[in-house]
Amino acid sequence: MSSSSAFRTAIVPAAGLGTRFLPTTKSVPKELLPVVDRPAIELVAEEAALAGASKLVIVTSPDKASVGEHFQPAPDLESTLEKRGKTELLEKVRRAPGLLDVEVAIQEQALGLGHAVACAEPNLTGADEAVAVLLPDDLILPNGALDAMSAVRERFGGSVLLAIEVPREAVSAYGVFDVDDTDEPDVKRLKGMVEKPAVEDAPSNLIAPGRYLLDRAIFDALKRITPGAGGELQLTDAIALLIAEGHPVHVVVHRGERHDLGNPGGFLKAAVDFALKDPAYGPGLLQWLRGRVAAS
Ligand code: UTP
Repeated sequence: MSSSSAFRTAIVPAAGLGTRFLPTTKSVPKELLPVVDRPAIELVAEEAALAGASKLVIVTSPDKASVGEHFQPAPDLESTLEKRGKTELLEKVRRAPGLLDVEVAIQEQALGLGHAVACAEPNLTGADEAVAVLLPDDLILPNGALDAMSAVRERFGGSVLLAIEVPREAVSAYGVFDVDDTDEPDVKRLKGMVEKPAVEDAPSNLIAPGRYLLDRAIFDALKRITPGAGGELQLTDAIALLIAEGHPVHVVVHRGERHDLGNPGGFLKAAVDFALKDPAYGPGLLQWLRGRVAAS
């Protein structure tokens, strides 16, 4: 557990419609789809807990209550497993409720990521000077990115976003950071963001992989923005407002891996990557994959 974390509360927005996973997401929230055997949101909650969060606010919609329920104890199931001596399974079942305190905030309608983050404000206390926001669509490996972001807030104040490099020719699919260098090679000062630029107009090849350490001032900024792209209240518009008002915002360039679970193709890669590292499934999967690839 991190001792110098800049935040105690992490917010996980999970109220989106998950249209890229239809028809599954008609009845199963994408945040509960298993990466090997653990739901994606449990992995993200664990990342927040390891970085020092003691409270997780899951923002979800009225019809996705099962996302919060994953973090509740299951006494009947636990006593059955106990009676049967299934200690390993019991540990797995108790893992999510044991990570940190989980509260659920409801976003009645999917009005955008900025709106979803704002829905968590009533769950904060006066002690929350900054909050971490983790998008459950993104897995960041190895752990430690939020610690690096906390250290940057300690040094520069304000808000800190995670960035990853993508190949220059891929920038047009993303919101791209416009940055200035600092005296640390992997820390940049954020000047703005450009949504889906043409390759030749892109200010950098740095994009946002869904990890934000936001000063409490973000909640005031969220009240002052108007709907942007897609008619949604965009978190990036509130961050842009803070930058315009002189609030320091930096990005930390992540040098590890990132999986995008938001679409089936990215999800499958993550599942295969995690399964290959799993002692129970890895060796068999690798052998099968080798044969499968050779046959294609
Ligand atoms: P996405 O737009 O990537 O997720 O939002 P989505 O809307 O669920 O998926 P698609 O695009 O329809 O396939 C990024 C994150 O923000 C949350 C989503 O749940 C996801 O974790 N989000 C988005 C909200 O909580 N509320 C919103 O209004 C929008």
